[in-house]
Amino acid sequence: MAVPELLGAVRSRLAGIRMRWLITGSAGFIGSHVLENLLRLEQSVVSLDNFATGHRSNLDEVRATVGQVAWRRHRFIEGDIRDPLACQIACRDVDVVVHLAALGSVPRSLGDPIGSHETNVTGFLNVLYAAKNAGVRRVVYASSSSVYGDDAALPKVESRVGRPLSPYAVTKCANELYAEVFTRSYGLESIGLRFFNVFGTRQDPKGAYAAVIPRWARAILNGEPVIINGDGETTRDFCYVANAVQAALLAGTTTSREALTRVYNVAVGGRTSLNELYRLLSSLLAEKHGHTRAACPQYGPFRDGDVRHSQADIASAARLLGYAPSHTLEQGLREAVPWYIERFAASRNSVPIASRNMA
Ligand SMILES: NC(=O)c1ccc[n+]([C@@H]2O[C@H](COP(=O)([O-])OP(=O)(O)OC[C@H]3O[C@@H](n4cnc5c(N)ncnc54)[C@H](O)[C@@H]3O)[C@@H](O)[C@H]2O)c1
Repeated sequence: MAVPELLGAVRSRLAGIRMRWLITGSAGFIGSHVLENLLRLEQSVVSLDNFATGHRSNLDEVRATVGQVAWRRHRFIEGDIRDPLACQIACRDVDVVVHLAALGSVPRSLGDPIGSHETNVTGFLNVLYAAKNAGVRRVVYASSSSVYGDDAALPKVESRVGRPLSPYAVTKCANELYAEVFTRSYGLESIGLRFFNVFGTRQDPKGAYAAVIPRWARAILNGEPVIINGDGETTRDFCYVANAVQAALLAGTTTSREALTRVYNVAVGGRTSLNELYRLLSSLLAEKHGHTRAACPQYGPFRDGDVRHSQADIASAARLLGYAPSHTLEQGLREAVPWYIERFAASRNSVPIASRNMA
């Protein structure tokens, strides 16, 4: 992902300064993009992942993108945030932690609430505790739009949350509480980022808990049916990964005291229905990959624990962090689609339709 426009403010803050960063969850989707950008910014990075949902191929892709010289400024630790010793080792000499390791997905947490709790709450507590003991200055961590729960008001404003609708949402609420208490009790700086439906390259399309955009892109490219949960009028504020990285790096480098000990919505501020998303994604895939023939989507039951509508108010991140999304949904999809085609299109789709019909 080449995102020079987001690096402007951060680049000037880091000019001539090499900080040491810890990224947890670096083999995952968002983590690998944060890693790539920090290495481009000539920072020193240690990263930790246990490959629970992340992939070595994401790290390989970062290495190939940034080059061998930049890659030497990175040390990878295969380890588990549920292990306090692994967190202690990873936090040594670190200035800023970007904590992204977690078990995502609302349905996963409904199926395995204890597993979600162990990684997302106990694991987070281990990271905070190790960071405090190691003298880390700041922890930037991933929260989620799921904390808005059953509150129907739109757009979502940070100060107003409802009751959580899933164990996953509870884990993210707990993260926000623990981070605040660690600031108050121990002086560890913290900033939480409530990500809203992030998408982009390196996001896993496979498995029962895959996010909607890569899952649909893969299905469409392979001529498989797309199932929409519910009537398709559920809305989301889809956020391209470049925007998420921008927010994480602004949070990690801000010098404003006022910006600390807060949580911020990270999205675009738009609202797109699943039906609109399907139309946009299928037409962009067809535009770039002539063999794509998207069928009409099929409709299934609503998913337990899902909120009906979601849209972020991003004024707080704009005012206090200087956040300004660089990509709309369509711009992000246009950037990601070539990667989806390269990775997801099965070889049979590369055979011209006419030849297939003759076989
Ligand atoms: N992608 C989104 O739309 C979205 C939305 C809201 C919040 N978030 C949050 O952002 C963060 C990153 O999400 P993502 O989409 O990149 O997910 P991801 O699954 O691609 O990345 C998470 C990474 O954490 C690692 N991990 C999981 N358990 C671990 C453990 N016990 N020890 C060490 N590593 C572990 C995984 O292997 C994976 O590489 C998560 O905290 C997630 O809850 C993401």
